[in-house]
Amino acid sequence: MQTLQVALGERSYPIHVGDGLLGSIGQWLPATKSARAIIVTNPTVASHHLTALHGGLTRAGISHDTVLVPDGEAHKDWRALNTIHSRLIELGAERSTMLMALGGGVVGDLAGFAAATYQRGMPLVQLPTTLLAQVDSSVGGKTAINHPLGKNMIGAFYQPCVVVIDTSTLSTLPQRQYVAGLAEVLKYGAACDVSMFSWLESSLELLLARDAQTVARSIAQSCRIKAAIVAGDERETGARAMLNFGHTFGHAIEAATDYDGSWLHGEAVAAGMVMAGELSVRVTGLQSGENLRLRELIKRAGLPIQGPRLETEHYLTLMARDKKVQEGAIRFVLLEALGKACLRSDVSMEDIVAVLAG
Ligand code: NAD
Ligand code: GLY
Repeated sequence: MQTLQVALGERSYPIHVGDGLLGSIGQWLPATKSARAIIVTNPTVASHHLTALHGGLTRAGISHDTVLVPDGEAHKDWRALNTIHSRLIELGAERSTMLMALGGGVVGDLAGFAAATYQRGMPLVQLPTTLLAQVDSSVGGKTAINHPLGKNMIGAFYQPCVVVIDTSTLSTLPQRQYVAGLAEVLKYGAACDVSMFSWLESSLELLLARDAQTVARSIAQSCRIKAAIVAGDERETGARAMLNFGHTFGHAIEAATDYDGSWLHGEAVAAGMVMAGELSVRVTGLQSGENLRLRELIKRAGLPIQGPRLETEHYLTLMARDKKVQEGAIRFVLLEALGKACLRSDVSMEDIVAVLAG
């Protein structure tokens, strides 16, 4: 069991990481907790992990109801948000009632936005059950729904009051989803921490085999890096943008395939990191040996190292919708070295086109 802290003044909160924490949830909630909770989850996650959470809440004397939303990125939308809001009103949820997001990043982002907006804000408890959500989306307070014209376009920064990471939930996660989550773990090493990157190079086989200790260490280390960055730049005016390494190309890949599941977020980010590595060699002078290490680690993880073949113009149009675009210029997160990312808006069209051409 490990506890980390996201230091945000009076909105600071702990991240608890351990095996079987849902069953003892009462121990991990804030002392000021309400005696009532509403759980938001989907049928897939509910079938595996709702019983453990029910048991934990019942033992803690916390009354609870469950709201089910449909599974999938396509349902991270205003309809599902409206379903949650309607049920909260019907169930007579109060401003102090805890909203618990049990699931992956889709449930976490959606329920998080519902918590931010219901009665202008209710306590949010993140209970992430995918590797991606455990190392990334449950921490840091980005909540959102998709708009037909763009992903995550409608949302709010709204911090949870606690993140409880029960690593045993990963036992039911399909391998493809697990490996996609690993892309975000590799991202922390590549963009923020070269010693973590080296550790990942030597521990990858154990991680792929889901060795419990290695997985827990990778989650804790990822959360530690994210917590420190969020504490220094909650609203992404500076350093937090580094967490988007690989995402400018990655989001374009997801958008080009209409989020139809042919490319999972982590898979698109993986190919995006390879493209950003290539661009770094051209723009920042990243050593080609370091770029090769990045590419090799992504490949060894079984993640894609090449995006889909799209017209260059199509990529450019999609990348121009990135939320990092400022005054019309695409800003790229690039590597100066492994573990040292930087934000650059002075990238020539010639270099971008060369990377897109592969
Ligand atoms: P997801 O939430 O769709 O989960 C993937 C699949 O796994 C779903 O079918 C889900 O039902 C299933 N699942 C979840 N936990 C399971 C378990 N323990 N066992 C079996 N199946 C399980 O996808 P994701 O990859 O977790 O999250 C992607 C979303 O996260 C995207 O919408 C992305 O925009 C968002 N995101 C947000 C942030 C942030 O900072 N808020 C960061 C990164 C990504
Ligand atoms: N996933 C990037 C961030 O939370 O800022």
